Amino acid sequence: MKIIGICGSPRDGNSEYMLRTFLKEMQDKGNQVEIVLLKNENLLFCTGCQTCETTKTCRLTDNMNKIFSKMLNSDLIVFSFPIYFDYMPALMKNLIDRTNSRYEKLKNKKFVFLAVGALKGKEAKPGQKMVLDQMKDIIGIYGLKLEGYYFAEANKPGEIKNYPEQLEKIKDIARKIK
Ligand SMILES: Cc1cc2nc3c(=O)[nH]c(=O)nc-3n(C[C@H](O)[C@H](O)[C@H](O)COP(=O)(O)O)c2cc1C
Repeated sequence: MKIIGICGSPRDGNSEYMLRTFLKEMQDKGNQVEIVLLKNENLLFCTGCQTCETTKTCRLTDNMNKIFSKMLNSDLIVFSFPIYFDYMPALMKNLIDRTNSRYEKLKNKKFVFLAVGALKGKEAKPGQKMVLDQMKDIIGIYGLKLEGYYFAEANKPGEIKNYPEQLEKIKDIARKIK
């Protein structure tokens, strides 16, 4: 299986570590994995020109067409991102906006998402519920098949490394995917 992991954090942080943990597990099972860190990509904001609605591609000349091709050529797409104000960060949301008029081509692909927020326990639940609802909506629009998701609780960059039990949950998702 070909897997593309897309990280939506603007820093070298927990989301990236979680994504690499997941991808390593999938690679160890013989899958072909690739990672895209949106923070390192030239990705302009959607201008709302709606040209894509006729051409089915984006007129902006940046890295989006390259990233979309990678998504298209994958069997499993993984998003990993921090929770910002009970939502995904702008980097991640912009990637979604930029798939306008062509996301239909991703229909039936397998999908996993990993999210991380600073809040813990009961305090984290309302924000996690918001993000879950947002993601379910996007998954429905795209027609993806949700294979698993995980909400981690960590704040400082790399703090997630101190929580092997959380990383184990991420590995578990990978182990169950066929
Ligand atoms: C602008 C901003 C907004 C944030 N909003 C939330 C939030 O709503 N809920 C939460 O639990 N954590 C929030 N956080 C904390 C981050 O989600 C947390 O630090 C996370 O570990 C960052 O992941 P990263 O290391 O992958 O960037 C916010 C952080 C920033 C910078």
